[in-house]
Amino acid sequence: MSLPIETQRLRLRPFVDDDLAVLHTTLFGEPVVMRYIDARPASRTIEETRPHLERILQHQRAHGFADWAACDRASGLFLGLCGIRLMEYRGPEIELSYLLGQAFWGRGYAAEAARAALEYGHDELRFAEITAIINPQNVASIRVAERCGMVYVGTSHHYGGEMLCYASTGRGGLETPSRET
Ligand SMILES: CC(C)(COP(=O)(O)OP(=O)(O)OC[C@H]1O[C@@H](n2cnc3c(N)ncnc32)[C@H](O)[C@@H]1OP(=O)(O)O)[C@@H](O)C(=O)NCCC(=O)NCCS
Repeated sequence: MSLPIETQRLRLRPFVDDDLAVLHTTLFGEPVVMRYIDARPASRTIEETRPHLERILQHQRAHGFADWAACDRASGLFLGLCGIRLMEYRGPEIELSYLLGQAFWGRGYAAEAARAALEYGHDELRFAEITAIINPQNVASIRVAERCGMVYVGTSHHYGGEMLCYASTGRGGLETPSRET
């Protein structure tokens, strides 16, 4: 298994410099998408998105994994991001991430992408535990974690606030993988 990761409907590929505009307009510049991401209010400016993309690119170069661009497999349309990274970019824990543009919510894309990222993290990168950090108000995100077989393991301070932690150990909790065999 190698990058890009393909599922039935999605392709998870490393970000490139040219993704700045679409990353900003689809995700980081959208208050409704950023509502629960951390304790600071709402969306970023494009000038704030730029260093964030650079941090993603640097993480991929340094570690071989990162937040990946989640795209429609057939058309290449950018839908959002999903991947795994060092917790808050520091580690040592490993964190699962998923954000979709609002136009793409409610179609099961997040769970499909997250399952594939978890599988890659456990099977390819050999991480024993991968954790999702979720704002307690983010019901949709909690459902995504649960659908991926992740288990609530407690609360902890992350991204400037008290967050729920859901863990995947890759042992039997995952639903039927959506990746084509
Ligand atoms: C959270 C998010 C990724 C969910 O993506 P999605 O593709 O719409 O999720 P799915 O379609 O896979 O749905 C997963 C479950 O959540 C439920 N759900 C979706 N939106 C919901 C909402 N607003 N309220 C309650 N449940 C919701 C779905 O019904 C589904 O439940 P089911 O398993 O019982 O069928 C998406 O809403 C998003 O990108 N939000 C902004 C960024 C964000 O908060 N990311 C998470 C950071 S921890």
